[in-house]
Amino acid sequence: MSSVQVDHLTKSFGELLVLNDISFEVADGEFLCIVGPTGCGKTTFLNSMTGIYEINKGSIQINHEPVNLKKHSLAYIMQEYSTMSWLNVRENVSFGLQIKKLPKKEIEEKTDRALELVGLTQFAKYYPNQLSASMMQRVAIARAFAVEPDLLLMDEPYGQLDLELRFKLEDELLNLWRKMGTTVIFITHNIEEAVYLSERILVLTNKPTTIKENLINPLPYPRKVTDEAFIDLREKVTSLIKWW
Ligand SMILES: Nc1ncnc2c1ncn2[C@@H]1O[C@H](COP(=O)(O)OP(=O)(O)OP(=O)(O)O)[C@@H](O)[C@H]1O
Ligand SMILES: [Mg+2]
Repeated sequence: MSSVQVDHLTKSFGELLVLNDISFEVADGEFLCIVGPTGCGKTTFLNSMTGIYEINKGSIQINHEPVNLKKHSLAYIMQEYSTMSWLNVRENVSFGLQIKKLPKKEIEEKTDRALELVGLTQFAKYYPNQLSASMMQRVAIARAFAVEPDLLLMDEPYGQLDLELRFKLEDELLNLWRKMGTTVIFITHNIEEAVYLSERILVLTNKPTTIKENLINPLPYPRKVTDEAFIDLREKVTSLIKWW
């Protein structure tokens, strides 16, 4: 189980102040979406959390302790494709399971299921350089889902996918979340997607970035994008970001 504490987080690159004294928490098992203008520091936040970037001030913690990638069960689906070019699709997807040293049979089963989920079963032996952008993204999604992490960090994971697959994987993500009690931080530019998925939406400002609004999403699951309450909430979030 994983909760997240972000406390007075400040991150700049040289003179450029990006994240400006940001504080928020994510409860254990919560589904949080983050939306914000391009370049406001959404990816920077996830990169800071996972130790790719060093922060200037403040802290990001999991379960009230410093993030420890060996200890905390965390998967990060990056905005840029993060496949390993020297491994084939199957090896990429099973990578996290191998690290966990699960029994071979369990690794096989979980890998098969994840490959099927993203429609890559027939491409298991392909290497990343033989795949399209959407297929590489699907490899990253399958790898993250396969390990059933306590905390799932997703940076615009579905932007590259066609609509049908996006809808399917949104529902699969909700299934995984419900089944596993995973805590999810999901970044998207797609407001409909944020309203469809999340229990809460953080709306960020332009740089230097602060939290513009912390919006509870009260709609019951399963949601329908055509419901009146859904459309109302979507409009509300849209109007919040109009002033960008
Ligand atoms: N490694 C880096 N070195 C210098 N500047 C950086 C670095 N990474 C990000 N930045 C700058 O920090 C700001 C935030 O970038 P970031 O990629 O986090 O934005 P974002 O909110 O994820 O944008 P998008 O919605 O386009 O993905 C940008 O101005 C970017 O140029
Ligand atoms: Mg980004």
